[in-house]
Amino acid sequence: MDETFTTLEFRDEKLYLIDQRALPTEVSYIACATYEDIEFAIRDMIVRGAPAIGATAAYGVYLAAKQCTTETDFRKACQFIALARPTAVNLGWAVNRMVNVYDQNKQLSRTQLLQALLAEAHTIREEDIQTNKKMGEIGTTVIAQNATILTHCNTGALATAGWGTALGVIKTAFYEGKNIFVYADETRPRFQGARLTAWELKQANIPSKLIPDSAAATLIRDGKIDLVILGGDRVAANGDVANKLGTFALSVICKAYGVPFYSAVPISTIDFSIPDGSAIPIEERDASEVTHIQGVQVAPTDMEVFNPAFDVTPHQNITGIITEKGIIYPPFKENIAKLKQ
Ligand code: MRU
Repeated sequence: MDETFTTLEFRDEKLYLIDQRALPTEVSYIACATYEDIEFAIRDMIVRGAPAIGATAAYGVYLAAKQCTTETDFRKACQFIALARPTAVNLGWAVNRMVNVYDQNKQLSRTQLLQALLAEAHTIREEDIQTNKKMGEIGTTVIAQNATILTHCNTGALATAGWGTALGVIKTAFYEGKNIFVYADETRPRFQGARLTAWELKQANIPSKLIPDSAAATLIRDGKIDLVILGGDRVAANGDVANKLGTFALSVICKAYGVPFYSAVPISTIDFSIPDGSAIPIEERDASEVTHIQGVQVAPTDMEVFNPAFDVTPHQNITGIITEKGIIYPPFKENIAKLKQ
């Protein structure tokens, strides 16, 4: 069953984004008419999730080509979009893919060039949905009948152009008729699990419970979790995975108790140029995300804060990486290299 909302949709020369800052209490859409609007939407997390920000950026490049009168200005605008958030490689990947289309078509008329760019942005969006469906078909094989699954952050339709990565795998298993149960980490400090994953799980009628992040260790130790499936924002060439803060800690607990730990990512999330996780740039976000909850102050005024949005899970802690081309198992370095060819 496809979702009843659209994460991103281009019509009337604007990109409409569901405002993920307002969910689940308010379902509203924001229209982006310029590449500056797109950059802001990514930076302020109106749209978030690695594949979703990639597809959004693709439309941003189209709008940049429409707005800019010189090639220099266009390239600056593309760079501006690509720098909106540093960790998810899908952002730079989508911008580069669009700039390549620009380079291949810039000798054509302006109308033809813009047509080619818009067509490519539509392709990136559509491919992402199909990729997620494929990942679902492949990933469901690791979910047994009656499995209890733990997930972290939001990896559903909201984090992608549609369907989802890790949550897409979970939904596929459920719609196939598997009797599953899902525990969703609330995912502090921005509550992507509580606000977004819980909303998607409810819409899909998947039996589930929301837990504080720190309850996961107890569930795992007590044998209540059969496997963990979550997403990824950038996978290094050796299989280290950068994902939402808290992923690393979960992987350590899973390893200690022998619980399978899977990351589900499209191949566009693999950064073949980065040898290991130490080279992945980790975004640090504003202190107010920790000192305040929904605008309410919960820490002393001017308290100093460390607020990394992501962490890196070493490949030694990962059972398998689910992609649209199959599940990658150790040795990750060798098996990831085969995907590049
Ligand atoms: O900061 P966010 O909400 O953009 O972080 C998102 C995640 O960490 C997701 O797990 C990741 O992008 C994979 S989503 C398909």
